[in-house]
Amino acid sequence: MSKLRLGVNIDHVATVRNARGGDNPDPARAAILAEQAGADGITAHLREDRRHIRDEDIVALKRDLKIPLNLEMAATEEMLAIALKAKPHACCIVPEKREERTTEGGIDVIGQHNRLKPIVSALADAGIRVSMFIEPDRKQIDASRALGAPVVELHTGAYANATGEARAKILKHIHNAAEFGADIGLEVHAGHGLTFDNVKDIAAIPHVRELNIGHFLIGEAIFIGLDQSIRRMRALMDEVRQ
Ligand code: PXP
Repeated sequence: MSKLRLGVNIDHVATVRNARGGDNPDPARAAILAEQAGADGITAHLREDRRHIRDEDIVALKRDLKIPLNLEMAATEEMLAIALKAKPHACCIVPEKREERTTEGGIDVIGQHNRLKPIVSALADAGIRVSMFIEPDRKQIDASRALGAPVVELHTGAYANATGEARAKILKHIHNAAEFGADIGLEVHAGHGLTFDNVKDIAAIPHVRELNIGHFLIGEAIFIGLDQSIRRMRALMDEVRQ
């Protein structure tokens, strides 16, 4: 099986920093540590309200990182301008509501085709790899390909929140969606709500090429340190891909 890439989302290092103002802890420092601990990429979500990552963080990450930067962003003119200036390796287009605590569902690529098309095209024309953060649904995957996005990231939040039979059912949906996406030529990623306890079943899906994980890793870092938190996640992912 191909190696599974780990993208470490460092948003919540910025959440802690912003709780007090000032510069500590520094998300760019966390990103460099993540790189040393085995992350294949760094993910950061510049939200419209700048509740965690700020514009200057994106500049610092782009400047300091050797591994690829994946900028998560809403499909707005403001974010497009920032992305075109910062030129991250990839942009993951996410739905964004001010009142939500985190990205609660996938973007509706079918319903928003006309709004998304110029943004996806502008990013792609600038050489940025575009990913659509969607529910594990064939129609949304098809619509993402029709937009010209080479990558889909399947939302694993419902899987992470479910238990027992319900979780098994959602896992099957994710598996089928990942297979379908790969079959029609897309690169498939997954993420949201993944932890040491639930990552293996997602990592075992052979069509998935990358996981993006943030909140749990940063939380676990309080107890075991960021380096160990990332190394353990990396090891769990690698275990099931052998
Ligand atoms: N992927 C995407 C597109 C996201 O929006 C998020 C949350 O910012 C994640 C992955 C990571 O989710 P979590 O922080 O729950 O691991």
